[in-house]
Amino acid sequence: MKLLVTGGAGFIGSNFTRYILQACPGVSVINLDKLTYAGNLENLADLADHPRHAFIHGDICDRRLVGEIFSRGVDAVINFAAESHVDRSIVDASPFIETNVRGTQVLLDAAAEYWKDRFGGRAAAGAEEPVIFIQVSTDEVYGSLGPEGRFTEGSPLKPSSPYSASKAAADLLALAYHRTYGLPVVITRCSNNYGPYQFPEKLIPLMITNALENQPLPVYGDGLNMRDWLHVEDHCRALELVLFRGKPGEVYNIGGHGERTNLEVVQAILKHLGKPESLIRFVKDRPGHDRRYAIDPSKITRELGWEPRHKFEEGLAATVEWYIINRSWWERIKSGAYREYYQKMYGAI
Ligand code: NAD
Ligand code: DAU
Repeated sequence: MKLLVTGGAGFIGSNFTRYILQACPGVSVINLDKLTYAGNLENLADLADHPRHAFIHGDICDRRLVGEIFSRGVDAVINFAAESHVDRSIVDASPFIETNVRGTQVLLDAAAEYWKDRFGGRAAAGAEEPVIFIQVSTDEVYGSLGPEGRFTEGSPLKPSSPYSASKAAADLLALAYHRTYGLPVVITRCSNNYGPYQFPEKLIPLMITNALENQPLPVYGDGLNMRDWLHVEDHCRALELVLFRGKPGEVYNIGGHGERTNLEVVQAILKHLGKPESLIRFVKDRPGHDRRYAIDPSKITRELGWEPRHKFEEGLAATVEWYIINRSWWERIKSGAYREYYQKMYGAI
């Protein structure tokens, strides 16, 4: 199987590329990534000479390039490529609309044309429809929960940020391509991932790396907002199952039963590192900050047999270790253009 992975130089995409090449000897990966501030070829350094991995530096919005890649043969697409950071979307939504919405449309068009040309728009009689397009989405499309309940696939879409609104738009487009053109699309909606190679603008790597540098840890609002943490490897395994056994037209929620307040996460990091809680600074809240996310993953468990394997405390400890060992990886990032962003976001805290 020739798999087009978009955004494969980012956090989840690079973990997935490494995972799928190892788990499935029959899969080769074409990795298309624009290398934005979040894309990093160092995340793929160990795969540079892998015989089943080819990297293409390019933009999913580039219709000509995407068409050319499809014309060379693609069996399925997993679309990770996105602007992924909520805070940046609040500063400027434009790149989010461009990549997350228009880029997804370009990929969907190419996939729909391929589906029509190669399969006449439907699976052979008696054959199961293969999944051709996985749209990697997020629990943030559902908006915020109160103190009770969990998101199911039937929860209404109520995105709060420009980021989550752009992801919801992409989800709806993808489902429309299934309905209108019969394109075998699946949407996955995952909770907060953590693990190696996560860009240090996100909560867990930001807090680990700041603590390692004895810098203040900026916690938004009262720190009681809740996220449902999932180890990235558990996400990758879920995507593998969806790729081979998912049902076209369906949505699958993926979550780790790992609900923690931000403050609990930050305190756990400080404890692992033996650093004092006096490093914590409560700072101005994120506008439109969703209070609580929690995922009900019972559909993917029931239908595809997926369960998270990593316990949050152990996964977090291993992640802290990864950032200790790979200090040069994040120091290079934090000393570059990221420094300017950090100053703008957090000023002198
Ligand atoms: P990331 O920001 O680490 O990586 C995004 C990657 O996409 C980067 O390598 C970047 O260079 C690339 N990219 C951006 N614009 C592109 C374009 N126009 N063309 C080609 N490549 C482009 O993001 P991530 O955290 O790895 O998230 C990956 C996907 O998973 C996103 O779609 C995100 O919405 C979704 N998601 C993330 C999480 C999470 O917790 N990180 C949870 C649920 C869903
Ligand atoms: O839920 C899935 C989503 O998780 C993905 O779709 C997004 O791509 C991903 O970025 C992530 O979004 P969040 O906004 O939940 O992640 P972030 O790491 O930015 O923030 C996690 C929580 O921590 C959130 O409640 C805001 C808070 N936070 C974040 C930062 C960066 C702080 O308190 N301080 C900070 O400095």
